[in-house]
Amino acid sequence: MNVNPSMKGNTEALLERRSKAIARGMGMAAPVFAKRAENAEIWDVEDRRFIDFVGGIAVLNAGHRHPAVMKRVQEQLNSFTHTCFTVMPYEPFVELAEKLNALAPISGEKKSIFVTTGAEAVENSIKIARAATGRSDVIAFNGAFHGRTLMTMALTGKILPYKVKFGPFPAGVWHVPYPVEHKGISVEDTIDAIEWLFKSDVEPSRVAAILIEPVQGEGGFYVAPKELMVRLRKICDEHGIVLIADEIQSGFGRTGKWFAMEHFGVEPDLMTVAKSIASGFPLAGVVGRAQIMDAPDPGGLGGTYAGNPVACAAALGTIEAFEQDKLLEKAQKQGKIIMTRLEAMKARGKGMPIGDIRGLGAMAAFELVTEHGGDKPDAAAAKTLTSKCLERGLLILTCGVWNDTVRLLCPLSAPEAIVEEGLDILEAALTGN
Ligand SMILES: Cc1ncc(COP(=O)(O)O)c(C=O)c1O
Repeated sequence: MNVNPSMKGNTEALLERRSKAIARGMGMAAPVFAKRAENAEIWDVEDRRFIDFVGGIAVLNAGHRHPAVMKRVQEQLNSFTHTCFTVMPYEPFVELAEKLNALAPISGEKKSIFVTTGAEAVENSIKIARAATGRSDVIAFNGAFHGRTLMTMALTGKILPYKVKFGPFPAGVWHVPYPVEHKGISVEDTIDAIEWLFKSDVEPSRVAAILIEPVQGEGGFYVAPKELMVRLRKICDEHGIVLIADEIQSGFGRTGKWFAMEHFGVEPDLMTVAKSIASGFPLAGVVGRAQIMDAPDPGGLGGTYAGNPVACAAALGTIEAFEQDKLLEKAQKQGKIIMTRLEAMKARGKGMPIGDIRGLGAMAAFELVTEHGGDKPDAAAAKTLTSKCLERGLLILTCGVWNDTVRLLCPLSAPEAIVEEGLDILEAALTGN
């Protein structure tokens, strides 16, 4: 890294203060401290520049500090910052609900609620499904990630590091395999597992919801086959089960459409949103069929900060940014650039061996494996690559049940030259050049 000698020491001192003041459970992917950021670039306290292929974990699809977002936020800051929507409502919440209802790929009348975090959105989607069906249980997927609260930990299908030491978890949650073609898990295997569950563990009339990420995020960027969604929709219709799509990571343009579900031509009943909806301001929501959304009684949903006005303003600015800058088209283009480059890196067969490459639109990832042409996960290599990229000025993040997958979540607003520069750094780090 290019360290300005006169600045040296800031990071070391901050790291020491961090470790003294903050519980170690708050992990740290990159031991550098942010100072300022613009679109797809971040500078740290030593004035080192980093290209951002993480976006605060899929939060910055519209980039850091997009002018449309900053303008809306500034206007809101000048008016008021909090009333609690369920005490004294305000227009930005209503306007955002109208916009989200119009964008959600669900037919008929829709309604929305806004809360603060992704986990809270998932919790609320389960509460709403339970209220609407009068049933208790939920089916989720191996490898899924839905959050860090007790119910969302129960729904999460990855033990390390999310569930270790934190049980017991709420009952009535069942996991089935997520189809992963190159690991030999087919759609048929998933459907069979659900059928078995209905015979051996829980009768379908007790199941309130099936909860699925259309593209698994934390679990490794596995894209659900269309056939799976079609079959899940059929099972839900047959048994009166609510189909919930968790679009917290895959939504807001990441896959080249507003929501990943649009790729499948299958409608969920409810959808959870968060992350890139508000470009870094804490906001999440549930949108869905009005009849289901209206099942809980007044006062049953909400929260002190639910749908904070500044965060709602940021979300309205984010939607404007998408429209102004044609970010859905840019996502498709960026996805193609990234996939082409990754395939070329793999084909060259130099340096760290690349395994499966996958994704949808600009939600792209690749596995690192122990040998060229092999399929054995190499978590250590993924960790090494992350550090090497950081040293060279590129932020990347791993994921996957085997922690062997590198996910790329570059802002969709990034100029092509920056995307290419980031990929050049990635390639150099992979090959050791
Ligand atoms: C698919 C999905 N659901 C839920 C969550 C939880 O969101 P939050 O961290 O805002 O609680 C995440 C976060 O990574 C996620 O990717």
